[in-house]
Amino acid sequence: MIADIAVLPGDGIGPEVTAEAIACLTILAKRFAIGMRFTSYEFGGVAIDAQGDPLPEATLAAARAADGILMGAIGGPKWAGLAITPETGLLRLRKELGLFANLRPARMICGMEDLSPLRAELVAGIDILVVRELTGGLYFGEHILADDHASDVCAYSRAEIERIAHVAFQAAERRSGNVTSVDKANVLASSKLWRRVVTEVATSYPGVTLDHLYVDAAAMELIKNPKRFDVILTENLFGDILSDELSVIPGSIGLLGSASTGASGAGAGLFEPIHGSAPDIAGQDRANPAGMMESAAMLLAALGHASAAQALRDAVRDTLLDGVRTADLGGTARCSEFGDAVRARLQLSADAAA
Ligand code: IPM
Ligand code: MG
Repeated sequence: MIADIAVLPGDGIGPEVTAEAIACLTILAKRFAIGMRFTSYEFGGVAIDAQGDPLPEATLAAARAADGILMGAIGGPKWAGLAITPETGLLRLRKELGLFANLRPARMICGMEDLSPLRAELVAGIDILVVRELTGGLYFGEHILADDHASDVCAYSRAEIERIAHVAFQAAERRSGNVTSVDKANVLASSKLWRRVVTEVATSYPGVTLDHLYVDAAAMELIKNPKRFDVILTENLFGDILSDELSVIPGSIGLLGSASTGASGAGAGLFEPIHGSAPDIAGQDRANPAGMMESAAMLLAALGHASAAQALRDAVRDTLLDGVRTADLGGTARCSEFGDAVRARLQLSADAAA
């Protein structure tokens, strides 16, 4: 079987990091005999420029039909003031495909603790998964913008909370067995329901412990004591904010990948790095492709190719530990050099295995 992968390189550094990751996937496909076909589609700002729509019909149809989606990054100052922005295309894509669960893992690579802005003893060994609800909450409530008044509605149904809670508890069962649910239940009605429903869902997972934190306290704990976290379960906006905060702990947002999955549609889901389009360094071969490679590894794992995923992660880790690092990590390696170094390692281990 050949897996159809819809590729959405997007804007800014998106195309550069996407190309590096696909070149790695191509080597892995050979080595592990994985059938994958990559087809690129316009999405984001480039699609606004070319077709007047950040999510053209053909792109949406291809994403829907695909076995998995690889996305680079979207957005930039060029489109920031428009009525329809690249971001609206991304939100629509998530909603149309029902990608309600956004998984954002952050791991401290052993031996790279000095890259963290936090002290090594605070961050050594951290391995945290943010499970962010992605198709509800403030992002998708009614938005009203008038001259003298504006409002955004934060709404959640019981069913929306239940399904994301199940994702978090099931992830915790495979990990260290703890879920920390983050809300603002001392103020918000949506959070009060969130806490009640998450507590109910927890009873189906006797092997998992559950605790609750208010989002302000969680923001503080992530810096003071990140090791206390295993799985963080939270709603859309809180997850957006906390996952950026978490991303600085391993050293750079450029290292982290993500998966957005749902009950139906888009096969294995949508895989993208956590970072944005970084227009300031776009086209300069200076971006860090590691986060895109981690996203590619998550795609491989979701397609059932766990060994190939691990081989890619190992090659990225060894490349970093050898000191091949892009500018965001204080290094001098170009984006393409980092990619070449990872692929050399993939090739080496392939030769060793043969
Ligand atoms: C993210 C991004 C998006 C979000 C933007 C680009 C709409 O920040 O994926 O975290 O807020 O969800
Ligand atoms: Mg974000």
